[in-house]
Amino acid sequence: MPVFPMARSVEVFAPATVANLGPGFDILGLALAEPYDVIYAERVDEPGIVIDQIIGDGGKLPRDPKKNTASIAAALVLQQLMIQSSGVVLSIQKGLPLESGLGSSAASAVGAAVAVNALFGNSLRRQDLLPACVEAEAAVSGRHADNVAPALLGGIVLITGFTPDAIYKLPTPANLALALVTPDVSVPTADARAVLPKAIPLGNMIGQMSSVGLLVSAIHTGNVPLMAQAMERDYVIEPARQHLMPGLKEVREAARKTGALGTVISGAGPTLCSICTTTNVARRVAEAMESVYAVMGISATTRVTVPSMDGATLRIIER
Ligand code: HSE
Repeated sequence: MPVFPMARSVEVFAPATVANLGPGFDILGLALAEPYDVIYAERVDEPGIVIDQIIGDGGKLPRDPKKNTASIAAALVLQQLMIQSSGVVLSIQKGLPLESGLGSSAASAVGAAVAVNALFGNSLRRQDLLPACVEAEAAVSGRHADNVAPALLGGIVLITGFTPDAIYKLPTPANLALALVTPDVSVPTADARAVLPKAIPLGNMIGQMSSVGLLVSAIHTGNVPLMAQAMERDYVIEPARQHLMPGLKEVREAARKTGALGTVISGAGPTLCSICTTTNVARRVAEAMESVYAVMGISATTRVTVPSMDGATLRIIER
């Protein structure tokens, strides 16, 4: 990462992410080209972090800097840089829906962390921002890095711990397109984590390990059909959460009939993510998924996207 002189103001585009990729609960995540949050940050002489405005959240996110993931991450990066005599003013434009399983809290945390680093000379590498982003995420949705790590690094990331050297960027297969459908039901991550079993039978553990092994192997060989097959082999998390995801079975079936290779819960849901090989197929799949919810009387938003190779992107506004 190049080191610039300090910037006065910057803008960061921080991507949505699909966490878990099926069986890789808390250890695998994928960054998406769209949707994304935009974090505008300005360096000021007064110490501390201020949230100037949040747009696009319907007034739902906390404005208190101690409670918002963006400002928590920003404050931790300031601390990491040992900056005490200056501060940062943040403006947050939410492009990600809240509580939808697309990593909304992570995107804002990552956007703010990348922005603060850039305002003070960009001396930290992306992976060095991981602990601050994980702490910020933990304050609202539990300690897991499978949204923040791909949002920081881009592509598909394997997480083996919360330190900078514990995250591994895997190769992103070519021809990977995603159809996403977000039904209009709220599933807070904390609730979706509360329903998970505390202990799992050995047989399920063996099944889950084989799925993750197969998935990582398929990712490395760029075999998208095998990747999608491995993603659907979840013996632990989906069975415990499926009752929170209306229409999962029907949507999966409709997606498969229109060309999807597999469908999983995105992160903690309720967004469902179908794996396709072209955006044209993904568009058809997204329509079919939406129709299933329409029949059920549930309104839903669909998106077609591709992986984000680089994760959060930075634009210097003023030096
Ligand atoms: N791995 C986390 C979970 C992701 O499934 O609870 C939350 O976005």
